[in-house]
Amino acid sequence: MNVSVPNIPVARPALGDEEAEALRRVIQSGWVTQGPEVAAFESEFAAFVGADHACAVSNCTTALHLALKAVGVAAGDEVITVSHTFIATANAIRYCDALPVFVDIEADGFNIDPKLIEAAITSRTRAILCVHQLGMPCDLRAIIDIGKRHSIPVIEDAACATGSEVLWDGQWEKIGKPHGDIACFSFHPRKVVTTGDGGMLTTSSPEFARKFRLWRQHGMSVTDTTRHGSRQVIFEDYDELGYNYRMTDLQAAIGREQLRRLPGLIKERRQLAEAYCEQLSTLGLSLPVEPRWARSNWQSFCVGLPSRTDQRTVMQMLLDQGISTRRGIMNIHLEKAYRSQNSHRTATRLSRSVSAQEKTIILPLFAGMTDVELSRVVDALRQYFAMTVADDPLVIS
Ligand SMILES: Cc1ncc(COP(=O)(O)O)c(C=O)c1O
Repeated sequence: MNVSVPNIPVARPALGDEEAEALRRVIQSGWVTQGPEVAAFESEFAAFVGADHACAVSNCTTALHLALKAVGVAAGDEVITVSHTFIATANAIRYCDALPVFVDIEADGFNIDPKLIEAAITSRTRAILCVHQLGMPCDLRAIIDIGKRHSIPVIEDAACATGSEVLWDGQWEKIGKPHGDIACFSFHPRKVVTTGDGGMLTTSSPEFARKFRLWRQHGMSVTDTTRHGSRQVIFEDYDELGYNYRMTDLQAAIGREQLRRLPGLIKERRQLAEAYCEQLSTLGLSLPVEPRWARSNWQSFCVGLPSRTDQRTVMQMLLDQGISTRRGIMNIHLEKAYRSQNSHRTATRLSRSVSAQEKTIILPLFAGMTDVELSRVVDALRQYFAMTVADDPLVIS
């Protein structure tokens, strides 16, 4: 590799002077956790997605835990989800002593196949936990219809989907506007909006919102801000088990700046995705497609490799040229933590999920990525495929 050529990361957080300035403001204010910045971030996030309530927490995994608990998921229950997702999705189900029930993904994308959900429902099913994988909205309308027909709550794992949109009754609406019962977001640095780490729940239910606020702060009956502002002495109570799932004001102040930039960040990511689609169209790769009713934030750009191409070899070839990639989304049921019989139930064949893990790679895409960087990725792939035997594009089946 030519060492003078800068490396291209798979992702890069878009953090700058505004975020640094916001941190200074918080440090100087003297209030650094779950205070006014968190409250402001919550109301700005709620307004952005069009939700009645938003509640900030420490990360998306804790958001998922609270969401599942709020809809009543408990020991012995089943929750329908996908194996083809980050392990946190299923871990949160297990934190409730419930069983993740895995169904396969669609043939033409990386999201749950709604046609497989109904057959997976049993008398123990307590929730459907769908994932907007890689920022691409899943078929929410179909999933919510199933939930309604069977009186099963729908929780959205929207970890990757801040700013993604779905067409709903003729209107483009943000993921997180409550169509399902609760949506959970991540602000990890690989996501489009980052606060270092962080999470958010949105819902239309005041009761769920009340529970989230109670549980995230140890089950404490009085908030710190209320006690601090009171001219009377207040003693707090702890009537039920809670957790420390708080977000700090430092994180929230960064989040507020990120939210302000978000429309611009998404515009840029959508242009990069379009450029990839145009420039990679002749290489025999299977390219991601937005359904007519979805607008992705392109949190990740994941391509399918031609069928006889070795994933690791392509990734290594790119890495040797200073280009970072990641393999396609993992399969939870293949991990040791999920091998035992009582860790999950597999409700359908998972062949598309496995194929997507083994035959796809995630290419670099981040705000600030230059045309030159994008061309380097495209050229490296073009040269590689020009040298290897022409092959059939990937068919996930
Ligand atoms: C689909 C999905 N769910 C949940 C999570 C967990 O998010 P966090 O790291 O904020 O807990 C992630 C993080 O990568 C994710 O991609």
